[in-house]
Amino acid sequence: MACFWGMPLASAVFLTLAGLVLATGAPFIDDTDEVLHLVQRSASSRRSRGPAAEGPFRAALVVSIDPESYKATEGELRDQGVLAEMVRGFDGKSAEELEGALQLLTDYGNTQHLHPTVSNWLLCMHTSPGKPPNITAASAELWHNLMRQAPRNVTELLARDQHGCVPKVIAIAAAHLRLWQGLANGSLPARTDLGELTGEDPWYLVMEDDVALCPAWRERMMQELPQAPIDADVIKLYFFGHWRKEDAVTGLNNSATPFLEARDPLRSFDLFKAASYELLHGRGWSSVPIAGFYAGTQAYLIRPSGARKLLKKIRGQPFQDIDMTMMLSVKNYVWRKVLAHGRPEDVNLLKFDELSLLQRTVPDCNSEPPEDQFW
Ligand SMILES: *[C@@H]1O[C@H](CO)[C@@H](O)[C@H](O)[C@H]1NC(C)=O
Ligand SMILES: *[C@@H]1O[C@H](CO)[C@@H](O)[C@H](O)[C@H]1NC(C)=O
Ligand SMILES: *[C@@H]1O[C@H](CO)[C@@H](O)[C@H](O)[C@H]1NC(C)=O
Ligand SMILES: *[C@@H]1O[C@H](CO)[C@@H](O)[C@H](O)[C@H]1NC(C)=O
Repeated sequence: MACFWGMPLASAVFLTLAGLVLATGAPFIDDTDEVLHLVQRSASSRRSRGPAAEGPFRAALVVSIDPESYKATEGELRDQGVLAEMVRGFDGKSAEELEGALQLLTDYGNTQHLHPTVSNWLLCMHTSPGKPPNITAASAELWHNLMRQAPRNVTELLARDQHGCVPKVIAIAAAHLRLWQGLANGSLPARTDLGELTGEDPWYLVMEDDVALCPAWRERMMQELPQAPIDADVIKLYFFGHWRKEDAVTGLNNSATPFLEARDPLRSFDLFKAASYELLHGRGWSSVPIAGFYAGTQAYLIRPSGARKLLKKIRGQPFQDIDMTMMLSVKNYVWRKVLAHGRPEDVNLLKFDELSLLQRTVPDCNSEPPEDQFW
């Protein structure tokens, strides 16, 4: 990002804009399917359909602050033979929990500096796929902070926050961080009915509680996961925002694999092009979604070893969205044809007119991501 500040103001704004990356959620549909073997090899009372099969991952760890949302997701997963466990996130609206989240990030040295793409109003532009950003809040933050010195650390960022945008981003980051700690130190999964470890270092599916798996996800995952690059630390079942054809991962015979390498999510030239595209093709600010590359933490596979590596690599990194921190810290890949999607009840959001552009950066289950036309 060295050239970042050397650019004319307008470009810098575009860049900054594009550096924004969106946080949670993932609303759009597809029929819920009925796919069905067991994740676990071990016998279990939950085994109800299909032959016992070695699962592609050992269990699902569902990040949630709402037991009701968790329950709905757990039910869907159970129907698909996936054993799940709720992993409590941080509630950014609770002062006490926010304090805890902040402390955790501070322990990892992530609060003393801000990434250049982070600012109060940009954090308010954060949104999830299918949900429009809160332009009102973002504009208010922008004006409020226009003539002030930029915040230098998370404390200052929080002090300026007037719309609850910063606590949310902090809470999400800390929730994933704490989950990695649990995986790394063996306290997760906590449930004891998972049976013998099928390997020393199995994959776990980390997902947020508003996410569902795509039809036929298991067949695809069983078939495709073995083609994942051997150096993969994180493999996302879902991403949104821009992507590059050149990031396609090729296999041994130069054949295409199902994966894209989620690299350079903040490469400035690409962000500039992406943001320009979005602005040029949008109808004014209110329709500009400003997606980054390979954004999101809705659903990803990670192993305890990957969690340990992440925890080591994120030390001292400047504060920014956790998905970006992850991509800049360890090897991330994404399923080019996504294997997860948002919960159907959010689908009405997609009908909003201003979302027409956003939809182009939101992939559908089991299909090629939308052509990235700017590219
Ligand atoms: C942020 O900066 C302010 C002022 O320089 C300082 O008082 C505060 O301790 C800093 N906070 C963190 C978390 O570094
Ligand atoms: C946007 O932010 C404003 C100010 O905080 C708030 O009143 C409003 O409810 C928010 N809108 C949405 C759709 O969240
Ligand atoms: C493991 O990590 C979790 C999550 O941070 C923590 O609550 C727990 O105390 C840790 N356990 C050990 C044995 O370190
Ligand atoms: C590579 O080619 C060999 C021989 O044609 C084939 O058996 C193998 O499946 C191919 N591997 C991949 C990853 O396509």
